Amino acid sequence: RVAMRWRWSLGVDLTLLILLLIKLLILDLDIKTSGTGCVKIQKIECDNCKIETEKGTSVLQSIKSHKIDIRTNGGKVIGLGTLYGNTDIRATEKGSVNIEKLQGTSINISTEDGLLKTKYLYAETSSLSSVAGDILLGSIHGNTSLQTKTGSITVDSSDGSLKASTHHGTIDVYVSQLRKVDLKSQKGSITVKVPASLKAYLQLSGRKVDVSSEIQLKETQSASKDDHVTISGHMNQRNETDKWIKADTQNGKVCLKSQSWIQSVKLKSS
Ligand SMILES: *[C@@H]1O[C@H](CO)[C@@H](O)[C@H](O)[C@H]1NC(C)=O
Ligand SMILES: *[C@@H]1O[C@H](CO)[C@@H](O)[C@H](O)[C@H]1NC(C)=O
Ligand SMILES: *[C@@H]1O[C@H](CO)[C@@H](O)[C@H](O)[C@H]1NC(C)=O
Repeated sequence: RVAMRWRWSLGVDLTLLILLLIKLLILDLDIKTSGTGCVKIQKIECDNCKIETEKGTSVLQSIKSHKIDIRTNGGKVIGLGTLYGNTDIRATEKGSVNIEKLQGTSINISTEDGLLKTKYLYAETSSLSSVAGDILLGSIHGNTSLQTKTGSITVDSSDGSLKASTHHGTIDVYVSQLRKVDLKSQKGSITVKVPASLKAYLQLSGRKVDVSSEIQLKETQSASKDDHVTISGHMNQRNETDKWIKADTQNGKVCLKSQSWIQSVKLKSS
C-alpha cells in the first residue's frame, strides 16, 4: 500500500489539475486549493478522500473510499461514474453539487444557493439539504431526508422511507414503493405521483386537495378547518399501517396523481 498525503495552497489565478489515471491504493488523499484552483480525480481507491476548494470546481470520477469529504465555498462539485463510500459534501454560497451515482451507508450533502442534483442515490441513511437551491433527484433508495428553505424538491422515483420538508418551495415526488413518506411545505404545493396499484394509507392536507380520478381511495375521510382540507384513505389495502404517505402544506395545494413506472422512466430520459 502506498501512502500519500498532499496539501497544496495555490494563488488566486492558478488552476490545479490532478489526473490520476492509474488505480492507486492510497491511504489518505488530502487536497486543498485556493482561489479558482480546480481538482480532478479519476479512478482511485483510498481510505479517506478529502478535498477543499474555494471557487474552483472539483471533478471526481469513480472514487471508492471509506470517507469522502468535500468542501467548497462557491465552486462546483461534479461526480461522474460512481462515488462509493460514506460521503459528506458541503457547498456554501453559490456552490453546486451534481453527481451521477452515490452509494454508501451514510450520505450527507448540503448547499446554500446552489443546485443539489443526483441521478442515483443508494444509502441506508442520507440527508440532503439546501437553503435556496433546488434539490433534484433521480432514483433514490433507502432512508432519505430532504430539506430546503426556498428551493424546490423533485424526486423522479423513491422506493424507501422519505421525509421532505420545505418552507417556500414546492415538492414533486414519484413514489414507486414505500415505507413511510412524509412531505411538508409551509407555502408551496405538493404533488405526489404513485402507481395505481400502490398499497398505502394516505393523508393529504392543504388549501386544496386534488385526487385524480384513476386513484381509488377507500374509506375516505374528509375534514376542513380554517381554509385547510384534510383527506385520508386507503389505496389497495387496509391493514398495513407501516406503509403510508402524508403530505401537508399550510398554504399550498396537494395533488395526488397516478403514474406508471414506465412513465417515470420516460419523463426522466426526456
Ligand atoms: C451525516 O450526518 C449524521 C448526522 O449529523 C452523522 O451522524 C453522520 O456521521 C454523517 N455522515 C457522514 C458520512 O459524514
Ligand atoms: C432505514 O432505517 C432503518 C432503521 O432506522 C433500517 O432498519 C433500514 O434497514 C434502513 N433502510 C435501508 C434501505 O437501509
Ligand atoms: C384487516 O384486519 C381485520 C382485523 O383487524 C381483518 O378482519 C381483515 O380481514 C383484514 N383485512 C385484510 C384485507 O387483510
